[in-house]
Amino acid sequence: AAQDATGTLHFKDAQITINKNIYGHFAEHLGTCIYGGFFVGDTSRIPNTEGLRNDVVEALKKLKVPQLRWPGGCFADTYHWKDGVGDRKKRPTIVNTWWGGVTEDNSFGTHDFLNLCERIGASPYLAGNVGSGSVQELSDWVQYVNFDGTSPMSKWREENGRKQAWDVQYWGVGNEAWGCGGNMTAEYYANEYRKYATFMNNYSKKSRLFRIASGANSGDLHWTEVLMRDIPNHMLEGVALHHYSVIDWDKKGSATGFTEVQYAATMRQAWKMEELVTKHSAIMDKYDPKKRVALVVDEWGGWYDVEPGTNPGFLFQQNTIRDAVLAGLTLNIFNNHADRVRMANLAQAINVLQAVILTNGAKMVLTPTYHVMEMYNVHQDATLIPITLKSPDYILGKDTVPAVSVSASKNAAGKVAVSLTNVDPKKTQLISIKLEGMSLKQVSGRILTSANLQDYNGFDTPDKIRPVVFNGAQLKGDQLEVKLPPASVVVLSLQ
Ligand code: AHR
Repeated sequence: AAQDATGTLHFKDAQITINKNIYGHFAEHLGTCIYGGFFVGDTSRIPNTEGLRNDVVEALKKLKVPQLRWPGGCFADTYHWKDGVGDRKKRPTIVNTWWGGVTEDNSFGTHDFLNLCERIGASPYLAGNVGSGSVQELSDWVQYVNFDGTSPMSKWREENGRKQAWDVQYWGVGNEAWGCGGNMTAEYYANEYRKYATFMNNYSKKSRLFRIASGANSGDLHWTEVLMRDIPNHMLEGVALHHYSVIDWDKKGSATGFTEVQYAATMRQAWKMEELVTKHSAIMDKYDPKKRVALVVDEWGGWYDVEPGTNPGFLFQQNTIRDAVLAGLTLNIFNNHADRVRMANLAQAINVLQAVILTNGAKMVLTPTYHVMEMYNVHQDATLIPITLKSPDYILGKDTVPAVSVSASKNAAGKVAVSLTNVDPKKTQLISIKLEGMSLKQVSGRILTSANLQDYNGFDTPDKIRPVVFNGAQLKGDQLEVKLPPASVVVLSLQ
């Protein structure tokens, strides 16, 4: 049969590691992400350990979350970490001005977050307050969590119940400094960054700090240019980038009740990540040809209208097959750019935007996006196998995007993983991929799809969408042939 998409996997050129940190998540004090999502407090009737929901912790362990970003987002530049340590009853409250104007009681703080990371096996990624904080405050935070010797901050940590330092490696120096983080110009922020980064000390003997500059808003290339130009290379380990797949900020549309035209527009925004990563990387290459500095896409995902009847400031949205396809193709983009994209954070983990988990009281559901992240975790720290691919287009109205996206890797045990997505909601794609320089004998796989793009896992139908065995792939000599159903995400395992 005539093939729709053809490609070649270049095994001989496999050199670059897909950093597991590409599979990171994001937890902001926003809506019910922290309170109700991760944390219910130790007096709750919902099963918990020191206030952390047991069901959520188990689900996140299975996901293999490599790193988790906290406490924001916009919230980070209003957050004063010292309010969130010590005796809970004495902690001051603050108003969460960005998200719903609710009162934040600071009952979930640094110790809770870092304990959570230890429980799920994730590296913490702390976002420092540059917008309304001080150099001293951030410098103290680094000392509080990382210093094992005798100092005012390490003493205070011990008094608050933690003897051993946590060794937090990943630090954001502010968030969206061009917007909610202080409305700064790139030039002004670059100077602020230099000042803050100077006082973020390396206390740990195990690892050096990985400092991430607050990055560009989507296509703002000037921002990246200025950061790379004005911040000395030795002070910078990562530059961030934020891009949301939003159709129109004034008319985002329903998360579930969308048309195919809206679906196609979301896919165009998702595919834009390819262009963004390519363009921002090219600027970084100019200043950093050895690719020492990582591009950190620390906010990405679909953004729609909130669910009817919920607080508009809480950004609670359902999650459908549209989100699964969006996640699959975005992760393929990151994998294929693993030379520069070495860290990313899906926004956000629980109950906010493109969440992997939704909770409602004691109920919890795993979203289609959860399943994609779980299926794809085979790529974590595996070696990228470069691919050349010719895909047909999916065209709807004014939106044209490649229908098929693929990435592939080989792990330490020699197992090959190939992840594929088909954006087209109507057409099955016949794909033929040449395995160049490798002979493989067996293929198996899993697929995530559903009858309708709008299908989701509701609190009363939590297993409606989940991965099942996929039999649509076969090996014919050096060719891998795949029959990829409409609007589906497939991960194959070959050996
Ligand atoms: O993820 C929600 C918000 O989106 C974050 O707080 C902010 O950084 C971005 O604008």
